[in-house]
Amino acid sequence: MQPLKSSISNPIRGEIRVPGDKSISHRSLLIGALAVGETVIEGLLEGEDVLCTAAALRALGAGVARASDGVWRVQGVGLGGLREPSGVLDMGNSGTAARLLMGVLASHPLTAFLTGDASLRRRPMARVQVPLEQFGARIVAREGGRMPLAITGAGEPMPITYRLPVASAQVKSAVLLAGLNTPGKTTAIESQPTRDHTERMLRHFGAELATAEEAEGALAVTVTGQPELTGRHIQVPADISSAAFPMVAALVVPGSEITLAGVGMNPRRTGLVDTLADMGAGIERLNETEIAGEPVADLRIRAGGLTGVEVPASRAPSMIDEYPILAVAAAVAEGTTVMHGLAELRVKESDRLAAMARGLATCGVQVEEGRDSLTVHGCGGRAPGGGAIETDLDHRIAMAFLVLGMAAEQPVSIDDAEPIETSFPGFVALMNGLGAGIGPAETAA
Ligand code: S3P
Repeated sequence: MQPLKSSISNPIRGEIRVPGDKSISHRSLLIGALAVGETVIEGLLEGEDVLCTAAALRALGAGVARASDGVWRVQGVGLGGLREPSGVLDMGNSGTAARLLMGVLASHPLTAFLTGDASLRRRPMARVQVPLEQFGARIVAREGGRMPLAITGAGEPMPITYRLPVASAQVKSAVLLAGLNTPGKTTAIESQPTRDHTERMLRHFGAELATAEEAEGALAVTVTGQPELTGRHIQVPADISSAAFPMVAALVVPGSEITLAGVGMNPRRTGLVDTLADMGAGIERLNETEIAGEPVADLRIRAGGLTGVEVPASRAPSMIDEYPILAVAAAVAEGTTVMHGLAELRVKESDRLAAMARGLATCGVQVEEGRDSLTVHGCGGRAPGGGAIETDLDHRIAMAFLVLGMAAEQPVSIDDAEPIETSFPGFVALMNGLGAGIGPAETAA
């Protein structure tokens, strides 16, 4: 346990680059391992979640090695070339690592045992178990498909068409990855478009993907099985979900101005930037470009008054990981912010809806927690603060409340900063380098 305390901050200033995108990092390792030849990845996120994917792929026979800071080399085994691991695969805290790997394994005829930390073991895997069993995979899991579980991939997988019951890029990706080593065409239909990093990266490696619009905004994504995937060069953009923390910090600490370099701006991920703009934030996009199939830009952010807004449910997939930090922006804004369509937040690393409502209330902010909504009554400036937050193995809850402390009358403390390593190694040093005041708390919160 690493308790930390965040106190009122001077204006933050400077130019930084946050670590590589977590979603793209997982996918570059996974797809690189299934390609023929070498994949070189620059800017890989070296956080614990991604290191779990790397270790699992090594156990499955791929060559995955760190060459230098953020530069990794993957020697792919080719589709169908994975070998049975002799031990249990520990996916740590990472739902993405677990669900995407299960997708890959579903069409490889071998048996693997998967587990994770206390947070991951309480998260639902039935959402991938159901479609993967349709390919012919066998999965034995705890109630609700929970881990630990065993998966035996299909020897002769059948292609499927699967309509996603929840808006989840993880489920879509598991289906598409299972479809890779399956003859014929596999289709995932999503009623709301979710992040499309898997689709972009598969194309980058040479796979054939087609998308078709369906009624009421639904999207059908089809992959043609057994493509020839060839090793590639990948540059991972900075993670917009990590950039979100210094971004909001710069907005809520008066006098701040920062630049965030090389941030991934995939339109299916930019819901927070749109919402903050609706609230009146000054966020400028500079040097917009595209790298390895993903849009990227530098973001210049200046502090300024924020006003509460209504955030529609339709925006949730494009900012699903950003609600904790949006709730912090809302707490400092003038007026009320209402966020709709948040049911999925209850099955993230923690129940983030409950965690934000509880934590903000502890810090003197007036909040209402609905079944799938959150209402935050903004303080119109500094929040009272003074709360002690239980982070419950959730990196984003930890970082969100450290940012709140920067704009609060009284310091905010968190009981454990260790989970931050899963997605944003070096977070505290980076924030303090900009001028934040985050340091050890005397006692556990
Ligand atoms: C992710 C998808 C999202 C997100 C997670 C990463 C991905 O989950 O919350 O942090 O890389 O595909 P869902 O797709 O399950 O909402």
